Amino acid sequence: MKLQHLLSASLLLAASTAIHANNPNHPDSVYVFTYQTGPAIDGLKMAYSSDGHYWVPIGDNHSFFKSDYGTWGAEKRMFNPCTYYDGTEVYAVFALNNRANQFATTRSHDLWLWKPQDYPYMSNTENVAAPVLTKSNGLFSVVYTTSAGNYYRTTSTDFQHWSDAELVDDATYQAARHLQKAVIDGHTYEGYVIRVPYTMVDNLFARVGDAAQRNRLQGESLRDDARRFGNFKGIEATLTYHPDQAKDISPDLIGIFFEDINYSADGGLYAELIQNRDFEYNHLDRGEWNAQSFWEMKGNGTTWEIATDQPIHANNAHYAILNTTQPGAALCNNGFDGIVVKKGEKYDLSLFLKNLDSKAQKLNIRLLDGEKVLAQTSFTASGKDWKQQKAVLRPTADATHATLSIEPQTSGRIAVDFVSLFPQNTFRHRKNGLRPDLAQALADLHPRFVRFPGGCLSHGNGIDNMYRWVTTIGPLWERESQSNIWGYHQSKGLGFFEYFQFCEDIGAQPLPVLPAGVPCQNSSRGGAGQQGGLPWNRMDDYAQELINLIEWANGDPKTSSWAKMRADAGHPKPFGLKYLGIGNEDLISDVFTERFLYLQERIRATHPEITIVGTVGPFFEGSDYEYGWQLARRHNIDIVDEHYYVSPSWYIHNQNFYDRYDRQGTKVYLGEWASRGNTLENALAEALHVTNLERNADVVVMSSYAPLLAKHGHTQWNPDLIYFNNTDVFPTVNYHVQRLCGQNSGSQYIPSDLAVQVLRDDNGNLRRQDNHDATLRVRSSIVRDGQTGDLIIKLVNLTSLSADTHIDLGTLEGYSKKAHTSVITGQPSDRDCQPVEGTLDVASPFAYTQPPYSFTVIRIPAIKK
Ligand code: AHR
Repeated sequence: MKLQHLLSASLLLAASTAIHANNPNHPDSVYVFTYQTGPAIDGLKMAYSSDGHYWVPIGDNHSFFKSDYGTWGAEKRMFNPCTYYDGTEVYAVFALNNRANQFATTRSHDLWLWKPQDYPYMSNTENVAAPVLTKSNGLFSVVYTTSAGNYYRTTSTDFQHWSDAELVDDATYQAARHLQKAVIDGHTYEGYVIRVPYTMVDNLFARVGDAAQRNRLQGESLRDDARRFGNFKGIEATLTYHPDQAKDISPDLIGIFFEDINYSADGGLYAELIQNRDFEYNHLDRGEWNAQSFWEMKGNGTTWEIATDQPIHANNAHYAILNTTQPGAALCNNGFDGIVVKKGEKYDLSLFLKNLDSKAQKLNIRLLDGEKVLAQTSFTASGKDWKQQKAVLRPTADATHATLSIEPQTSGRIAVDFVSLFPQNTFRHRKNGLRPDLAQALADLHPRFVRFPGGCLSHGNGIDNMYRWVTTIGPLWERESQSNIWGYHQSKGLGFFEYFQFCEDIGAQPLPVLPAGVPCQNSSRGGAGQQGGLPWNRMDDYAQELINLIEWANGDPKTSSWAKMRADAGHPKPFGLKYLGIGNEDLISDVFTERFLYLQERIRATHPEITIVGTVGPFFEGSDYEYGWQLARRHNIDIVDEHYYVSPSWYIHNQNFYDRYDRQGTKVYLGEWASRGNTLENALAEALHVTNLERNADVVVMSSYAPLLAKHGHTQWNPDLIYFNNTDVFPTVNYHVQRLCGQNSGSQYIPSDLAVQVLRDDNGNLRRQDNHDATLRVRSSIVRDGQTGDLIIKLVNLTSLSADTHIDLGTLEGYSKKAHTSVITGQPSDRDCQPVEGTLDVASPFAYTQPPYSFTVIRIPAIKK
């Protein structure tokens, strides 16, 4: 593990060891009391004592680890944590709740970095309560009680694989239970005492102090600029560069991450206009939903019910039966908050019908805007088998809240399923395609890759909800729709064929991210958390499923049945899949690690040409990050996916985050990042980060802002890059920054120097002086676009001062003397800043004044030979 910060952590530890080894006043070892102070969702606290009586808390109520079991929030609870130190490592176990027949395990070498937790199952007992950990002769033993008042013991030689629990008596349990009391700051707590080297404790104080200092820095904002820069008149900067030191960087740095969150797919990018078209909505999507949701029978004479006995396909089990005694009623669907149609455009209407009566059944279908008929057609069903009927509707007027109305014209019974109204005007006129304005907004970002389908959506809410790509291809009515972890329904109409086709349409690499055989650690359905992962007797098939994806995407239809499915769907040529993501910010538990490595091995053995993208947890630090990176280095994972959603000031104070990464081996995909807001302040912090990513784009080979899309009124996560409703698209200022970066990325990074000074008015004389705050906030990067040869300068000014910038790029031979500029500027709290395009004379050296709070891109075209 060569990450510099780990190195510095161990240097710090070594240094403090050295200091205290030489300090005769410090003990060699001390007692550490591990305990809890507050509610169970709070974490493990520690205090130390040299005499075992007077206890000093470590950190200000600092939690050294918390439970990571089960769904977000109240479910992640820790009860009765028990620690044990064997002279090499500290081990901990704790109970989870009063139901689970599992307990938690974790371990640490230094009390600071704790291994991602595992939750072994005790299959032959009730719940696990108050577990007590001991170790003797190399054997770990956990004795515990249960709600029923029984006592059990389980043992392990490796703290990973645990024996079946055996019944023990009360005396055995009580003998093991070395619970103690300690008075800390006047309060008495119960917990466990271990004796550890004093250097461990000293290191903890240093780490807790560092964390507090970093938290303070991350709380900074541009609101403090009057204090920071109020005394200065302006900034002067000089930019020079070193073209002879140019280095190749990833041309794929800027991509997008599409997740079906915030109604991004159904009701969003996927252009289908009918909601619950297949009557498959159910309570798993949302408690109050069922197969009839979003349909309404209006008028009298027809009743309707849901049947499942003879469906079109087993994957689409529910359908409607309309029973008409007297024509006059209508089964209506308002789509996703109203159906939007445009006058004169063509809409493909289709539905499956099956006559359940002795006489033929006729239906009128009308598209209505209130009482006004926009378009209509009729179908007659006489056959006893399902038959798809089709028509093209051309509305006579625009409407934003139209209704599709299915109106029986005959008395009798008829079965209806898979009612679809699909605009012909989709992005690139693809059948079953995408909403053109939204897709164009994505295309305009000029992404080099598209990650899909999630996020948490990929690994899903429980084992049965993991995203299985194979259920998303083929005829729409045979696809297995599924509840969405974000609390709604995914029809899978936007499936893998459609994702791959979109990537091809916009010239982006597809980056599917699929589960590593474990569901989201925050799962609440079918058990809690990772649920032990997919059982091993299903992992072989699952590995094959991933291999089949590669066959499907890249194989030859003449030799591969999977590739033939792709060809039959209309794409005989391979899609050219290069990347495959396995896992999404998973808890790097043993359950995950074993499955990930198995899948990686199977894919490497069959498709070594595929670049595997692993995962290192949801934060830029901590257990999953550290253990994820250790795994990556140890097993040469090609790329790992990092995630962080942090404050704007995190980006200001972590500009060298990647400069300290090892340049060899595993690369980084910064798969989810954002600065928690849609103001100019956020967007500029993100622009700043892009300049730092570009400098490090030999290591950070891909990045994608997250989340991408959010529908007004249906948003589970804020902020997002692009908001929309049924008619309009609302790009954020963050979007404009990402778009400029995507459209102005390069394949070579040209090292440069930016010298920044502030100007102080010294009794009428302007004096220049160095200023750390300004140096941190006025940044630049220069790249060369490998395709056009253009030179691209990005300048970020995150200060309230304008920055007169002297730019000296030598003779600039071979470049036009007229550059194109794009500038975004405004006040930090602004949300609607748009880039202003312009030109700039760039006979080098040249001057450019960066407005306060601005992002500027200067593109100097190469002269075409
Ligand atoms: O981007 C939203 C969510 O954030 C993703 O689904 C998940 O990976 C992360 O926690």
